[in-house]
Amino acid sequence: MSDSPEIRKGLVGVVADRTAVSQVNVETNSLLYRGYPVQELASMCSFEDVVHLLWNGDLPSAEERERALALERTHRDLGDRLMGVIERLPDSAHPMDVLRTAVSVLGGEDPTAWTADPDEIREKALVLIAKVPAVVAYIQRHRRGLPIVPPREDLGYAANFLWMTCGEEPDEVVRKAFDVSMTLYAEHSFNASTFTARVVTSTLSDYYSGVVAAIGALKGPLHGGANEAVMRTFDEIGSAANVGAWLDEALGRKRKIMGFGHRVYKRGDSRVPTMKAALDTLVAHAERPDIAELYDALEAEFVARKGIYPNLDYPSGPAYHLMGFDTELFTPIFVASRIAGWTAHIQEQLADNALIRPLSAYDGVGERHIPGYVASADAVAAATRQEEMAG
Ligand code: COA
Repeated sequence: MSDSPEIRKGLVGVVADRTAVSQVNVETNSLLYRGYPVQELASMCSFEDVVHLLWNGDLPSAEERERALALERTHRDLGDRLMGVIERLPDSAHPMDVLRTAVSVLGGEDPTAWTADPDEIREKALVLIAKVPAVVAYIQRHRRGLPIVPPREDLGYAANFLWMTCGEEPDEVVRKAFDVSMTLYAEHSFNASTFTARVVTSTLSDYYSGVVAAIGALKGPLHGGANEAVMRTFDEIGSAANVGAWLDEALGRKRKIMGFGHRVYKRGDSRVPTMKAALDTLVAHAERPDIAELYDALEAEFVARKGIYPNLDYPSGPAYHLMGFDTELFTPIFVASRIAGWTAHIQEQLADNALIRPLSAYDGVGERHIPGYVASADAVAAATRQEEMAG
């Protein structure tokens, strides 16, 4: 028998823990949040209801919905201190960096940040659910040289998000497509950012630290940053007619084609058909058949050549573009949604915690010593004591 340990690079295939939050079924190509198929939730429920489901295990009663909405609506403004910090960041800062800093500021302002009480954590999370749209809206309007639009308490979450960003009430087609995207992005088991949040939480660090770390993980283009990267790909290609030549060149240079492939799904992402349907409504609404043509052409050509299918970021990227968001804001929108899943997992981790700390197989240089080093008598005595105690 070999004595070298089995190494699962990238933790591929490793089952790290149990979860009751969501279930990814590769065989049936389905995703369930607390037992409900995500397509049904996207069609029948608002993002606010999905948040409640993920955090509490069930869809809200009318009274629970009202209570949560009332609280969320009171936190939709940026607040002076947060605005002051954001204004001091350079204009060149990526919106994900601004958002990461914003959550850190909110954590620093919260005297009970360390709590492990699930009710208190849900309250903090609801404040983040309300504040992140305000940060996203501020960034887009600041970049465009436009004044801030105050939040509207009479609007639901999705409509208010779009209102604060665009300065006008969204058309129902746009509002619904946005709400659907928020539900689809809300949760996906042990993805990289959620696992990051669980690792941080497992050290018994505070709620905000888990979220800040998760934002850092989500930023990368192999994870949440892919929706932004998809739009850049579309811009690079230009039109459906250029897809073949562009792919020849990109694959020749061994580039990853953003928005395709998935660590878990190998025959297509269960969320894509729902988001593609939402994208289709936006394409019709904005009269942009060119985007649909490019989408279809790149998908057909890449699947035919590589047998690798689109993931959720593929339809989401162009969808957010058609909704009027700047490309650099696509991943921050993903944050606004995924806070729901991160929070559910942080609660679950705290409820039955074990420090997450894997092992590694060392393959560096063998033991060596700095010339002239002589251990002190105290250090020798301490090492001897330690050896004796270890038996
Ligand atoms: N474009 C080109 N090739 C891809 C690819 C893509 N989008 N996704 C996977 N591949 C290829 C890899 O190059 C690799 O080929 P090889 O075996 O010849 O080296 C093979 O498929 C396996 O890919 P790998 O990266 O090892 O799989 P993974 O499970 O570790 O990666 C992703 C999954 C998501 C990281 C990967 O598919 C990817 O980088 N996709 C693009 C980014 C993206 O859309 N991320 C969002 C995910 S929801």
